[in-house]
Amino acid sequence: MVLHLPFRAGRLHLNHRIVMAPLTRCRAHPETLAPTSGTAAYYRERATGGGLLVTEAIHVSAEGTPVWDIYDSVRINGGHVTGLWTDEQERCWSVVVDAVHDRGGRISCQLLHAGRVAQPGIARHPLVADSGLPVPTVSSSAKPLSADAGAGDYGWDDTAVIPRALDTSEIGRVVDDYRAAAARAVRAGFDAVEIHGAHGYLIDQFLCDGVNQRADCYGGSMENRCRFLFEVVDAVVAEVGDGRVGVRLSPLISQGDPAFGHAFFGATCTDPEVTYGHAVSGLNERPLAYLLLTEPRVGGLLGGPDDPLPPLRNSRYREIYSGALIGAGGFSPASAALAVESGAYDAIAFGRWFLANPDFVDRIAQGLPLNVYDRSTFYGLGPDGGEDPGYLDYPTWEMIQGGVPSRYSLVAQEQIGVRLPAASRCEASAVDRQ
Ligand SMILES: Cc1cc2nc3c(=O)[nH]c(=O)nc-3n(C[C@H](O)[C@H](O)[C@H](O)COP(=O)(O)O)c2cc1C
Repeated sequence: MVLHLPFRAGRLHLNHRIVMAPLTRCRAHPETLAPTSGTAAYYRERATGGGLLVTEAIHVSAEGTPVWDIYDSVRINGGHVTGLWTDEQERCWSVVVDAVHDRGGRISCQLLHAGRVAQPGIARHPLVADSGLPVPTVSSSAKPLSADAGAGDYGWDDTAVIPRALDTSEIGRVVDDYRAAAARAVRAGFDAVEIHGAHGYLIDQFLCDGVNQRADCYGGSMENRCRFLFEVVDAVVAEVGDGRVGVRLSPLISQGDPAFGHAFFGATCTDPEVTYGHAVSGLNERPLAYLLLTEPRVGGLLGGPDDPLPPLRNSRYREIYSGALIGAGGFSPASAALAVESGAYDAIAFGRWFLANPDFVDRIAQGLPLNVYDRSTFYGLGPDGGEDPGYLDYPTWEMIQGGVPSRYSLVAQEQIGVRLPAASRCEASAVDRQ
């Protein structure tokens, strides 16, 4: 099967084309914001020989770190995201990397600065409060998140702070935060570093003119709005080396396309094809490992399994980008195989199905049914403050066959469209688009 053919992404020689997409789980150690032994077990069980896992978004600085209390599960039970700006965080990530390498897997470290999505909750965390650091929420411009601008109905209009627009003289410092975190990623042993330039976070807040209203050389023309992305990429490549840096982008689509309407955290853009076209052309000139693109259809996850598969919408970028191209967003095993066969993508990153199936790669190879994911446990700790349920309790097929009890239902792979099986239909929201 085509998904099980080897491919090369820069310096990464991979044995198959089923990538684990970055998935924030909010299960960091509550004091250190480092990954735990549970995190190592979670990635370890998903590792396969020569297969690529991308980590959850790992934050480059306290300033760029969100507290996800817009989600009920986090607000009620607690749960933080991880960072990579302290020695302890670096040490604990190296334990995760070792666990993946033990099984012959490869792991790419996704680096994120959330910009205005990092509301000031983190400032109350002891790691930050005691450090004396000022942690204002920053962005390209002083434009707050708001439901009207499509940032999702999370009560932003009552709670969102107005971010501080980064001063031109400060941008080098933020670029250096990415570089420093990338240096830590190299020391922790990661095989690659992925720059999260997607989904309405800081880099996207520079790319999109709905947020970026700067008058300096980082705003205005598409060249200027792409400048911050390229500066981050160049700094990280210089630190990590050629062929070891990936970038994630989520190109939007223009008004007039039926899928129009999904702007990630309100990052709207009046000329998306032009802006992202320029961004992808610039990335094509750089020695990357891969480019990971989110399909804009990712927002449309409601409906039944028989609904037709919406067409892929990122094909224009395939014509621009000649390196390894990975697609993500709403793929079933069958539609992923078609996308690779057609040449649209070299590999597919799966999110929710990989989250719910530790042995996902084997289950695809053998056509076995999949555990259906439980959205209520995507983010945050359990009611007892522990990591489970929903983290390490998804059984492998072997466990199911051995009679280990499972609270998850199963779905045949053929029943999965781009949409959820009817049995687990529930409201899709911005959570699936992080
Ligand atoms: C629980 C959850 C957490 C996510 N966290 C991240 C993240 O940290 N970084 C990122 O780039 N995308 C994140 N995403 C988006 C996924 O990488 C992926 O694009 C999305 O799940 C759609 O793919 P799927 O249909 O295969 O699930 C997240 C999605 C989910 C469901």
